[in-house]
Amino acid sequence: MSPMAASCPSGEEGNLPGRADVWRTAVTSAILAVLLLLGSSALAMAADPAQLARGKYIFGAAGGCGCHTEPKGVVNAGGRKFDGPFGTVYASNITPDTKTGIGGWTDEQIITAIRLGRRPNGERILPVHPFTSFNGMAEDDLTALVAFLRSVPPANRPKTPKQISIPMFESVFLPAWLMTFAAKETPPPAAPVSGVARGEYLVRAVGHCGECHTPRSAMTMAVDNSRFLAGNPKKTGPEGQAAPNITPDKGTGIGDWTEEQIATYLGTGNRPDGDVAGGLMGEGIQGTLAGYRDMTQADRQAIARYLKSIPAVKNKIE
Ligand code: HEC
Repeated sequence: MSPMAASCPSGEEGNLPGRADVWRTAVTSAILAVLLLLGSSALAMAADPAQLARGKYIFGAAGGCGCHTEPKGVVNAGGRKFDGPFGTVYASNITPDTKTGIGGWTDEQIITAIRLGRRPNGERILPVHPFTSFNGMAEDDLTALVAFLRSVPPANRPKTPKQISIPMFESVFLPAWLMTFAAKETPPPAAPVSGVARGEYLVRAVGHCGECHTPRSAMTMAVDNSRFLAGNPKKTGPEGQAAPNITPDKGTGIGDWTEEQIATYLGTGNRPDGDVAGGLMGEGIQGTLAGYRDMTQADRQAIARYLKSIPAVKNKIE
């Protein structure tokens, strides 16, 4: 309903409105305008339920953004430690707290941080945050994700300063590294809704599976996408964990798993051999407020189908 439609004088019958009518109309319009203003700001605060649900779904499909929650810690409050060849960083507080979180950022600023790795003040976010994958997320999904992030309780938790051991890391080394080694995913015009394209989108962008499962060079830690998802040994794996080869290679990958088994694993953590997912994979499946396991059966199947469609790469992960 537009304010005009609501406050138009009811003079349609051909009667000119009298003074009292004009006055009443003016007051009504003013009240309406105020109500509309209040209403729209309230709307800006509380996103619509469908969008929040979509945002939560994407949050889960991204593994619950678990890196931002310390085990058993406050959800999204950050603080989790990541050691890299450059030093140590701590995950940021991504709750809507205005002082220590992202509550003071605009939607656009949050989206820029997620997909381009830049803070509102221009500072770079280290690629420990998988922005090169997240760059492939569709605009609608990002907007919904941001709405969901704003709906989580704010937590006041100042960030732990990082300790960088490489001189001129952020001014010289990091920009050069990003330019040479960090190929970004390309966002689709809209998120694919079904089939292998949906699976590919969930794997490459939202689920950022390649961040852990695609081999990295021990020298540069650059991701080798010519061996997409062929696994990492402990040395180059996430947080010193080995990430298995999940290409369809029969001997060294998951070529022996059926699509159903892959979908079940993502939904429950149960492996075909009776074991259960552990480490970071277990965390991603479990998630925080949501995780991989909260994806629909159709989406888990789409992922499985996509994993079956990629080139098999022989790469034994010990
Ligand atoms: C944060 C790092 C990380 C991310 C992101 C990640 N994984 Fe994993 N994944 C692992 C680790 C570590 C293991 C080994 C788990 C274990 O030892 O139980 C694993 C195990 C697996 C396995 C079992 C393979 C086997 O041979 O045992 C499959 C399948 C798998 N991941 C698929 C995926 C998919 C699909 C995605 C994206 C939706 C994904 N993973 C995202 C780290 C990750």
